[in-house]
Amino acid sequence: MYGSKFKKLISKQNLFAFVRTYGCQQNVSDSEKIKGLLLNMGCSFVKEKKDADIIVFNTCAVRENAEFRVLGNIGMLKDLKKQNPKLIIAICGCMTQQYSAREKIKSMFPFVDIIIGTDFIDDLRELIFKVFVKKYNISGEFNNNFIEKYLNKKLDENLTVHRDSKIKAFVPIMNGCDNFCSYCIVPYVRGREISRKPEAIKEEIENLIDRGYKSITLLGQNVNSYGKNLNGGMNFTELLREITKKKGDYWIRFMTSHPKDITKELIEEIAFNDKICKHIHLPFQSGSNRILKKMNRQYTREKYISIVEYARNKIPDISLTSDVIVGFPSESYYDFKQTISLVKLIGFSSLFTFIYSKREGTPAAKMKDLISHEEKSKRLDELLKLQREISSEFCSKFVGKKERVLLEEGHKNGLKFAKTNQNITVFLENYNDDYKDKFCNVKFTGHKRQGLTGIIQNR
Ligand code: SAH
Ligand code: SF4
Ligand code: F3S
Repeated sequence: MYGSKFKKLISKQNLFAFVRTYGCQQNVSDSEKIKGLLLNMGCSFVKEKKDADIIVFNTCAVRENAEFRVLGNIGMLKDLKKQNPKLIIAICGCMTQQYSAREKIKSMFPFVDIIIGTDFIDDLRELIFKVFVKKYNISGEFNNNFIEKYLNKKLDENLTVHRDSKIKAFVPIMNGCDNFCSYCIVPYVRGREISRKPEAIKEEIENLIDRGYKSITLLGQNVNSYGKNLNGGMNFTELLREITKKKGDYWIRFMTSHPKDITKELIEEIAFNDKICKHIHLPFQSGSNRILKKMNRQYTREKYISIVEYARNKIPDISLTSDVIVGFPSESYYDFKQTISLVKLIGFSSLFTFIYSKREGTPAAKMKDLISHEEKSKRLDELLKLQREISSEFCSKFVGKKERVLLEEGHKNGLKFAKTNQNITVFLENYNDDYKDKFCNVKFTGHKRQGLTGIIQNR
């Protein structure tokens, strides 16, 4: 109903849209669906908010500072709205799944037109249409002021995806999370874990490879539990085997793996299947068994170490990355030292470090959090310093060697860059457009803080 009628109206107005994404790859992937939907409506995209007629913020709620950033940026839209009262502002994503955040947005920013939850991307068309009809004085049956939708609903499988890249694609294989780590808001904002059907995933990936995509990352909050709710479906390892039957020159990545569910079978598949990258993102969160228990992570430090030993034994060149939280309620300096010792023992190629952030509605929010912010920052600094040394040592082992890498689009700090199979960034000393979007052989010349440097030698 809203499709063709809206497309005609919008195309006539020549509307421009701007989409900003906060948070993890799950949101990046949702934003690609939002962009597909806007494109189908007849909108085109602009790079600056000031040039837009429709602004969509796809928000993240995982830590307090993520929410602060979103609120600050919504606030800045007020002036744009004053200059252009027809501007349509839609806020969606994980933040808007929470009652308190929705109320905050409504009371602080009454100029916001639409608030929708993560599962409502396919309804965004209808909602924008309603606001549009009113703002542009087009007679119609709609006369709403402010619209919100956020209750759980199943996401439409048939949404068009407008992909940001021509060579790298994110493919969600599941939605939601059932793990309820005690600090984490994700299960509350993303709902229960639902796996997509293997046939739909396979079809999407085969189509991407046929269109020239070279790096495909399968996404899920815990990919290792893929298939648990599919009656008679396949598990994650079987899914990987099925997908990689497709002929072609491509790499498959996946994230995130959960230590409680990762299997030996999966590690063996990574070892023997040359389409799967030799990299596992395996968050450990804390090195202390006492804290892991309070976090409800359902594994111990010893179990984590044994998984890593198994993986290193089967795949000697495996690269491991991880997430870690410092300053979880009641974390003593001794607990923190356990984290430090685990980081030293494992030798991650890189580490994503977070200071614990209290999330209302989670079990940890009720725990006494007596550690000062200053102490948490000190612990974070100690951890970061250690990890910088480890990453540097890890990278130095590559210098002088040659490897096949995939050129990335865009640049970092003005330099073209590529990714290795193990997901290490390589800043390129030479580049020309012949190499664009391709696999190339690179000789590593040195290393710096964020990765390696290298020279392309041939294709
Ligand atoms: N599903 C993934 C991670 C999702 S969130 C997993 O289980 O590993 C990404 C990371 O954010 C988490 O791994 C955790 O390290 C961090 N995180 C989540 N909630 C947090 C909180 N309340 N405070 C600080 N860091 C948090
Ligand atoms: Fe959050 Fe834990 Fe689920 Fe990851 S596994 S999304 S940390 S609840
Ligand atoms: Fe943030 Fe939602 Fe991802 S809370 S980390 S965008 S699942």
